[in-house]
Amino acid sequence: MIERVQVTRIEVPDPALILLVGPTGAGKTTFARAHFGSTEVVSSDRCRALVADDENDQSATAAAFRVLDLITALRLERRRLTVVDATNVQTFWRRRLVALARAHDVPCVAVVFDLPLEILLERALTRPDRRPGPAVIRRHHADLQRALPTVNEGFLRVWVLRTAEEASAVEVTRRSA
Ligand SMILES: Nc1ncnc2c1ncn2[C@@H]1O[C@H](COP(=O)(O)OP(=O)(O)OP(=O)(O)O)[C@@H](O)[C@H]1O
Ligand SMILES: [Mg+2]
Repeated sequence: MIERVQVTRIEVPDPALILLVGPTGAGKTTFARAHFGSTEVVSSDRCRALVADDENDQSATAAAFRVLDLITALRLERRRLTVVDATNVQTFWRRRLVALARAHDVPCVAVVFDLPLEILLERALTRPDRRPGPAVIRRHHADLQRALPTVNEGFLRVWVLRTAEEASAVEVTRRSA
């Protein structure tokens, strides 16, 4: 049976590499802004903008991830808590980051935004910054359902948030590691 206990508190080790995982529109950036300092968050969209002046330029994805990986590695080298704000819905994307954390001997944890597809589709209609198409949302949602992160991937902890209310209400605390 799958346990469906509501998450009310996320206690992250500090330092840690924290992967946000969730389809486009699931609330990763909103959560990151609410709980972490701007320099603690490394965002794939921001890295796309840094190399291409456009957060949505998909042709800049490979370059953006080189920047994201480099910043993440340099931060972990200094043992700075780092949050990766990218969809991370497929295992092979996460594997690279889990390996990076391990190489720096820093624990890696995941915060998963597993919201219902209907909510994601509805949100996209009123989003102020960008309007991802339904096909992209469905693909991300399906990818995540196929491969929900587990501790077997190398995460010290995995927290799964399943509703907008849960994501808004959750508290984040830090514990010196
Ligand atoms: N907990 C929440 N409750 C209600 N609305 C939310 C919540 N979190 C995010 N939203 C809204 O959902 C939309 C998408 O949020 P956000 O930009 O954080 O998603 P994202 O996961 O970062 O998406 P992307 O992968 O496309 O960057 C925004 O309009 C935001 O205001
Ligand atoms: Mg975002």
